[in-house]
Amino acid sequence: MRRLTVLGTGYLGVTHAACMAELGFEVLGMDVDAAKIATLTAGQVPFYEPDLQPLVAKHLDSGRLRFTTSYAEIAEFGDVHFTCVGTPQKRGDLAADLTQVDAVVAGLAPHLTQPCLVVGKSTVPVGTAERLAEYLRQHAPAGEAAELAWNPEFLREGFAVVDTLKPDRLVVGVRTANAEAILREVYVELIDAGTPFLVTDYPTAELVKAAANAFLATKISFINAMAEVCEAAGADVTALADALGHDPRIGRRFLNAGLGFGGGCLPKDIRAFMARAGELGASEALTFLREVDAINMRRRARTVELARAACGGTLLGRRIGVLGAAFKPNSDDVRDSPALSVAGQLQLQGGLVSVYDPKAMENAAALFPTLNYAGSATEACGRADLVLHLTEWPEFVAIDPAALGEVVANRVVLDARNALDAARWREAGWTYRSLGRP
Ligand code: UDX
Repeated sequence: MRRLTVLGTGYLGVTHAACMAELGFEVLGMDVDAAKIATLTAGQVPFYEPDLQPLVAKHLDSGRLRFTTSYAEIAEFGDVHFTCVGTPQKRGDLAADLTQVDAVVAGLAPHLTQPCLVVGKSTVPVGTAERLAEYLRQHAPAGEAAELAWNPEFLREGFAVVDTLKPDRLVVGVRTANAEAILREVYVELIDAGTPFLVTDYPTAELVKAAANAFLATKISFINAMAEVCEAAGADVTALADALGHDPRIGRRFLNAGLGFGGGCLPKDIRAFMARAGELGASEALTFLREVDAINMRRRARTVELARAACGGTLLGRRIGVLGAAFKPNSDDVRDSPALSVAGQLQLQGGLVSVYDPKAMENAAALFPTLNYAGSATEACGRADLVLHLTEWPEFVAIDPAALGEVVANRVVLDARNALDAARWREAGWTYRSLGRP
């Protein structure tokens, strides 16, 4: 059986490594961050992702999963190397920062003396795979025998393990039958279970990922644009989405209007996509993504505006209980989090903001140390003039509005995720407001 390595131990890398071990492979994971490797080796996962920690612990025990900080050990150990490092947005630029991807390939190449396959999984600008394949050919001692494939990853945070073990599809960009055969071998269990396996060239594989995220972002911004119209017309965007969703060509998923999308993927991926299209002379094709981005950002501004209105026209000195800091539920990720962005703006405008999130407190405090962080939803809402629901954790959806009503100064709630039961909150004496609904 082939031995696999995984370079980069973020959300994607740890999940991929543990899931490949679950599929029966021996896996060696690598990161340049020694502290992360120590944490993982101790059976802990340095971020919150449901089901992941037990899987890591299981395969540390089974002996199929190990971690290292050494490129030499990686090259020695495996013959299929997955690169799973991040491609964040460049500072001061819309484009993707490829520093980590380039560093991994440069670190690995001089050690590749035997035939092997390097498999890129990171989200990259189209054209990157071609460039990296050429780099490997020139810098790996194995030369042409150090091959490259591109295998984009579509996992969602919060569902990373299930998305990896039961993906909607597998896409592999390859240049040779050998590379395709190796990847069929790696994914044989998933292919046998019926997962569509799509073989393309490099640029198509890279573009599938960019296009998928562009489509998802567009779908969310479409319904949020409808929310703006609903607000102007006195209509209800959730009822509209339910009705639209019955058309199978449209579908109800990803039509939840509210505070919009954030996180480590969609925002930076659509921006990098626009930037890359510009470099290729195809910027016109993606100008609509600017609008998608702008609609999304307006949702945050609109939420702040509604909060100010709910506080009687000024945020100065008003107590605001904020429920949620993560960019979505079941995650502790606060990268480009709409919730945290709104909480920060409210505070900058003079609000006395107290934030609670079930999992993201530590990350939120690191990114936004000046906000006040409370130990529970009840504590965050103590004496609040306004309660803001910004991340739809099940814990918040289940809150008893009557009980919460006992601790606030004013029973006013702004549900920026359209996820609370409006009737129940109103019955408990709350003024309930949301985005895109009367
Ligand atoms: C996304 C893609 O879904 C995934 O396929 C890709 O691999 C990485 O990017 P993720 O960032 O984990 O995954 O989150 P996702 O579940 O897509 O949500 C993204 C954002 O959109 C969140 O902020 C979420 O709150 C928001 N969202 C989602 C909405 O506002 N409305 C919706 O209907 C759905």
